[in-house]
Amino acid sequence: MTQNTLRQAKRLADYQAPDFTITDVELWFELEPATTLLTARYQLKSQRKGATELVLDGQQLELLSVKLNGQQLTPAQYQVTDDHLRIDQMPAQAELELQVRLNPAANTALEGLYLSDSAFCTQCEAEGFRRICYYLDRPDVMARFTTHIIANQQRYPALLSNGNKVAEQQLPDGRVQVSWVDPFPKPCYLFALVAGDFDCLTGQYVTQSGRTVSLEFYVDKGNAARAEFALEALKRAMCWDEQTYGLEYDLDSYMVVAVDFFNMGAMENKGLNVFNSKYVLADQQSATDTDLYNIESIIGHEYFHNWTGNRVTCRDWFQLSLKEGLTVFRDQQFSADMASATLSRIDAVKTIRTHQFAEDAGPMAHPIRPAQVLEMNNFYTVTVYDKGAEVIRMLHTLLGAAGFRQGMDLYFARHDGQAVTCDDFVSAMQDANGRDLSLFRRWYSQSGTPELTVQSSFDAEQQQFKLVFSQHTAATADQQDKRNLLLPVRIELLAKNEKQQHLLVVSEEQQSFSFAVAEPPVAVILADFSAPVRLHYPQSVSQLLTVVQHASDGVARWDAMQQLWSDLVRQAVRSSEPLQVPAEVVALYRALLATPEGDLAFLAELLTPPSFDLLAEQYQPVPVDALLQALQQIRRQLADELAADWLNCYQQLIPAPYAYRQEQVAARALRALCLDYLAQSGQQAELLLQAYQSADNLTDQLAVLKACRNATHPLFETLTAQFEQRWREDVLVLDKWFALKASLPTKDTVYLLPHLTQHPQFSWQNPNRVRAVYMAFAQQNPTIFHAADGKGYQVLQQVVLKLDPINPQLAARLVTPLLSWRRFETHRAAQLKAVLSQMLAQQGLSNDLYEKLSKSLS
Ligand code: ARG
Ligand code: ZN
Repeated sequence: MTQNTLRQAKRLADYQAPDFTITDVELWFELEPATTLLTARYQLKSQRKGATELVLDGQQLELLSVKLNGQQLTPAQYQVTDDHLRIDQMPAQAELELQVRLNPAANTALEGLYLSDSAFCTQCEAEGFRRICYYLDRPDVMARFTTHIIANQQRYPALLSNGNKVAEQQLPDGRVQVSWVDPFPKPCYLFALVAGDFDCLTGQYVTQSGRTVSLEFYVDKGNAARAEFALEALKRAMCWDEQTYGLEYDLDSYMVVAVDFFNMGAMENKGLNVFNSKYVLADQQSATDTDLYNIESIIGHEYFHNWTGNRVTCRDWFQLSLKEGLTVFRDQQFSADMASATLSRIDAVKTIRTHQFAEDAGPMAHPIRPAQVLEMNNFYTVTVYDKGAEVIRMLHTLLGAAGFRQGMDLYFARHDGQAVTCDDFVSAMQDANGRDLSLFRRWYSQSGTPELTVQSSFDAEQQQFKLVFSQHTAATADQQDKRNLLLPVRIELLAKNEKQQHLLVVSEEQQSFSFAVAEPPVAVILADFSAPVRLHYPQSVSQLLTVVQHASDGVARWDAMQQLWSDLVRQAVRSSEPLQVPAEVVALYRALLATPEGDLAFLAELLTPPSFDLLAEQYQPVPVDALLQALQQIRRQLADELAADWLNCYQQLIPAPYAYRQEQVAARALRALCLDYLAQSGQQAELLLQAYQSADNLTDQLAVLKACRNATHPLFETLTAQFEQRWREDVLVLDKWFALKASLPTKDTVYLLPHLTQHPQFSWQNPNRVRAVYMAFAQQNPTIFHAADGKGYQVLQQVVLKLDPINPQLAARLVTPLLSWRRFETHRAAQLKAVLSQMLAQQGLSNDLYEKLSKSLS
């Protein structure tokens, strides 16, 4: 492993086009779990006059042979290092043939070619292809791929790769060879190969131009029925992209393979998506409403990548947000159209405020287009993805839906088949709309969360309402100097007899706007969260309640309620007095619960106070104990004072036989909220038991379990034991049990975690299992994770160190909750720092972990 001091980050500023490119690739895989042979033939072409040195990337490969234009090279004619294969005397055009041996069975990092249970599977993004063969492993090298898969047909009846299947032949030794051609040139990160014994659910989609596309979902034996929802979601996504962007699918088949061992959600390999099985397999017994929502959104996401990512790809990995920010924005639009627009927006806002703002405030702060990277896998972040989507959304807001569409059309017209930059994207938007977006481009290079402070005043004589905006972005770990940004700010003025809506563009450090209005209005600032900023606009409880009741935008109504709670918590934290829920708030709850109507999912969201993480993000240092206490006081008072109201509301919402339909999803969400408060008293055992036993779906069952967990209700043990019995064999459902157990806010939990890992279904090799236990612990159990004795931190430390040699990507994800030690009070900061320093002192850390630890401690 590389010496710590030698590790060098790559810089965007150093980008150079490659000396050589590869136009055509032909691969022959002879698959065996422990010794797979790969022969790879490349057509290489010089891109720079006089270039003679070819440097291919490669890691953990056993090189067997090198042939140049048919001639075997001797080891003296090339050099092999840990990371490269170098050939010095390259002609301007050549055919290079390599042979390597791989051991997929030993690949626990789940990058490159690996085994998921007994199936072969690949993950190449970002830089995994170099673990399959030596290659120019960078997205600006785009080649046409032909793939031959040779394997035992009994064990691996399905042999899949990108593009179209062009041949299948029996070999004399009893094996079969299946050949695939992908007609679209692509970077190697979009390469995929899958071999296994699956059940296949098939369907069809006829595109807008009348071509029939065969849709194929490959899943574990016996699970085809559980892929039906995903198949239908795919059809909806295909139709939506045609209607919304005029974009049609371009191959004859679209394959999705569900695998159990996967580091992320899913991967958009051309024509052959690979999915974490948890985002494909679902039915009412085994998946919740939220799972179904996520499946639809991820199916959409990967499908939308076919244009935003595959047809037009990234020039280099610093441009990742070009495809991810844009594709997240597209999947959010899709979800908004398929389910509830307000709810999906609220979801996105919560992600930004809790996780993305926290990333900006921590040691890994980076712009949506990072300027330097040691390990690319560390930059698949909420900043690149979700803040990236907010940046695209701001363009959409500024240009309007029609202008945005024109920009998209121009982007595809100019760049189809190319590997391009974020700047190219903005230029297309700019040129299609005749708008100067130069100031807007700063969003791509500047990290950090802008603070937007607003002062309002009313001039009774002039009948004018004035808003003064000031923006400021504080220095971040990666970047000292900040400049002002262009912020689209949606506002609404609520007066007795009128409502005014405006889209303001704030671009100066300080800027004011005046509005003619007869009386002093209540102002809604940043409706729909129109820019990813932290807003400071002090309003009274009564003003906030006016917004809650009268704003036109649901997101703004919800936001005002969040603001109200945040203000109350802040007062309590400052004064060390117990938090008192104001009578007006109790009255509002009472009124809304009395006759639950309208969008009940929105109502449930409106009535849910902010999470610990969301509040914590607003403090420096984070007053952990005071926040937990304030949240507990809110819970108790809402539970006690409204006990009859929760019960009454719950009883009004009589469940219908399960269907995944919006009104039902909404009613279940509100019922879950009622149960949560009903359980809080520690009583209501009969009602909870009855709710659990009569549920005909997993959503309602989990609502009971979560309510019992949040209240540490005596029923929790009994019911989770029943649940474990019932779902023992079904790991995806069992993951919910692991997470429930790990997030129980009692002292014993920290001792229970090692026992959970002894469960017969637990495996350190399977990221879903590890995440179910330890992500749930670190993210959903603040009481125990942040316990004053530091045990929670130590537990996570041990897990991270154990995982690093097995799966560095997973280890580096799990370490995140420990990194921002500087944001905590002295005592906890010291404990965290000690835990981090011990880790950094370890020999042989992966680049993934090393990059995060060293930044955190520097
Ligand atoms: N492109 C994939 C997606 O967002 C994610 C791939 C992540 N890969 C990684 N090594 N982190 O759809
Ligand atoms: Zn993506």
